[in-house]
Amino acid sequence: MSTGFGTEIVSVVNKLQDVFSSIGSSAASIDLPQICVLGSQSSGKSSVLENIVGRDFLPRGTGIVTRRPLVLQLIHRPSTSPMPNGNAAKEENGADPNANESEWGEFLHLPGEKFYDFGKIRAEIVRDTEAKTGRNAGISPLPINLRIFSPNVLTLTLVDLPGLTKVPVGDQPKDIERQIRDMLFKYISKPGCIILAVTAANQDLANSDGLKMAREVDPEGTRTIGVLTKVDLMDVGTDVVDILAGRVIPLRLGYVPVVNRGQRDIEASKSIASALEHERQYFENHASYKGKAQFCGTPFLARKLNMRITYQLQKNQAELQQLGGALGDGNSSSIVLNVITEFTSEFRTVIDGNTNDLSLNELSGGARISFVFHELF
Ligand code: GDP
Ligand code: NA
Ligand code: MG
Repeated sequence: MSTGFGTEIVSVVNKLQDVFSSIGSSAASIDLPQICVLGSQSSGKSSVLENIVGRDFLPRGTGIVTRRPLVLQLIHRPSTSPMPNGNAAKEENGADPNANESEWGEFLHLPGEKFYDFGKIRAEIVRDTEAKTGRNAGISPLPINLRIFSPNVLTLTLVDLPGLTKVPVGDQPKDIERQIRDMLFKYISKPGCIILAVTAANQDLANSDGLKMAREVDPEGTRTIGVLTKVDLMDVGTDVVDILAGRVIPLRLGYVPVVNRGQRDIEASKSIASALEHERQYFENHASYKGKAQFCGTPFLARKLNMRITYQLQKNQAELQQLGGALGDGNSSSIVLNVITEFTSEFRTVIDGNTNDLSLNELSGGARISFVFHELF
């Protein structure tokens, strides 16, 4: 399954990033894309990230589940031989059916240990969270660093963060609200960070802590994308159309409504593939959204993210030109610039073309997610 658009973007951006790393340390100062989720507790942040990555590996649920930042580095690694769907974990009962030898995770705190089973990645996140913060709702700014190596990802960083909360529970300190805010500020203040400001659609947008905080660090709204979760839980007869149309709290980059798996789906281990199919049907069949279904749901969110990433890389072009002089090596810098030019002109072709060419079908290969920048399955 190949999305012309998706695969090209992945390969060109990865080429670009390979050049960055091969021209040495000066290039490391160029910010590679980073995406953070920001919002109230249980608004659906972990669910959104997991759908974007397309694999089940993040702890999710009601109450405070994400209690430490998870810095997730996706690292593109070309597969050496074609993968005939080798299943590294096939002998174990209940093993991840999608496990294969070309995709694995590694934790910074467990050097050298490769996790091919994404279910075990989740178990390790839970285990290490409890080891560092106890079992009783404690939080810690100490990040968990996880790298996922795959031929199907774009090299970028996603950060899952604890949610904003006001009233301490369990072992939480009295100033829990301030502690979490300080923790979040550290991540979202980085100028290169794309903020996914997550708000549950069944909550009043004017009370969105995520949007409020995003505005503090990004007042112009140049790197904040609004995500409306739980659209399926809204009262009958209500919808998010006014929000999407910018009539409530306008956001420069707009909002994307999504439908993630509910708590019952989590308990029933509903797969991402069927969740995305459910989401697609939801928007296509809903009276309020069916005319604009291609602007709804996870695939559209991925596409929007991809555009922001591209834009940021374009902005880096100027920086690179300066860097070329500083490096004093005409050769390497011109390679970089050529790759960027190739990349941006390809991108322009895509966005200048008819947007209908980028249909949802093209962006989601069958029931499996195949994003603009990921085809993890
Ligand atoms: P986080 O605390 O912001 O990371 O939120 P989680 O991703 O852990 O989700 C919190 C709860 O909300 C879980 O029970 C999810 O199943 C549920 N949830 C998240 N998004 C949606 C959605 O779009 N629809 C429904 N019905 N439930 C959702
Ligand atoms: Na939660
Ligand atoms: Mg979470």
